[in-house]
Amino acid sequence: MKNTPTDILRLEGVSKAFPLKKDFFGRVKKLLKAVNNVSLSIKRGETLGVIGESGCGKSTLGKIILDLEKPDRGTVYYKGKDISKLKGKDYREYRVNVQAVFQNPQSSLNPRMRIWEIVTEGLRINFKLSKKELKERALSLLGEVGLPPSYAENYPHQLSGGQKQRVAIARALALTPELIVADEPTSALDVSVQAQIVNLLMDIQEKKGISYFFISHSLPVVEAVSDRVLVMYKGYVVEEGKTEEVFKETVHPYTELLIESVPELFPKKEKRPFKALDSENGDVKEGCPFYPRCPKRRRECLFYDMKPLNLSETHRVSCILYL
Ligand SMILES: Nc1ncnc2c1ncn2[C@@H]1O[C@H](COP(=O)(O)OP(=O)(O)OP(=O)(O)O)[C@@H](O)[C@H]1O
Ligand SMILES: [Mg+2]
Repeated sequence: MKNTPTDILRLEGVSKAFPLKKDFFGRVKKLLKAVNNVSLSIKRGETLGVIGESGCGKSTLGKIILDLEKPDRGTVYYKGKDISKLKGKDYREYRVNVQAVFQNPQSSLNPRMRIWEIVTEGLRINFKLSKKELKERALSLLGEVGLPPSYAENYPHQLSGGQKQRVAIARALALTPELIVADEPTSALDVSVQAQIVNLLMDIQEKKGISYFFISHSLPVVEAVSDRVLVMYKGYVVEEGKTEEVFKETVHPYTELLIESVPELFPKKEKRPFKALDSENGDVKEGCPFYPRCPKRRRECLFYDMKPLNLSETHRVSCILYL
């Protein structure tokens, strides 16, 4: 992948595993591979959507982008620079420019702080501003996310779920970021409020040219907001492309099942086809991790190294059927 100047963030061959089992002496016996050899780039002003079932590694990938988790392998580049080597002012610039909005505003907002303090906390920490300046900035930020100025003196518990998420968005915007990692930003909200928050995020993008790394369970939301989409399965990106490519010219059997959302995603217990199946959790030890559930599987899939194949300049797939 070329590092064009418009790439705000780029990941190259990033993997992350968590210890799953330890023996009596505390030595790690088994690792859970949460993110496997993922490469991606996020360009200025674009939304990169991420879909995939619970546990496929979406949030871990988001945390790696935010430097809240360190990858075991691979490199994260912010504007072409390896973030693990950034120091002082340069590291701060990256942290200021890459912000997060998480799923649950209930737990992400400090209940003891007033709304204006929450919204301007990052400004207070990173810049020398007076209380008056911070309050003024808070009022303008509340306006940007569609909240009345009178809310500035309130506490989070006095707000509805949607309003709290607006506060979380205002807090992220306070530092005028270039990229926001939005991890299920609407999943905890009532359906009627979800669309309002999605629209707000889209309006903000239009006005400010911010990029989003947008994680969501909702395929219609991801289809509506994303320029490009990643489909993850067990830590691998199995398909990647422009939104139309992934949703309309789907190639990976997993993406097909995900989009159809058919019950085959939870197939009846079947006899394990080959020895390579891990007896404990239905994982394959080698080859394509989707093998046990894939309606199009072949024996060769167990020997496939999951190296992505380019179908076009933008559309990539990790599936042996396209070799
Ligand atoms: N800190 C951790 N320690 C151990 N295991 C972890 C940790 N964080 C994540 N995992 C595991 O890594 C895998 C990927 O988790 P992750 O939260 O990234 O998935 P996800 O795609 O965001 O799922 P969801 O859709 O439910 O939010 C899961 O199996 C999870 O249990
Ligand atoms: Mg998650």
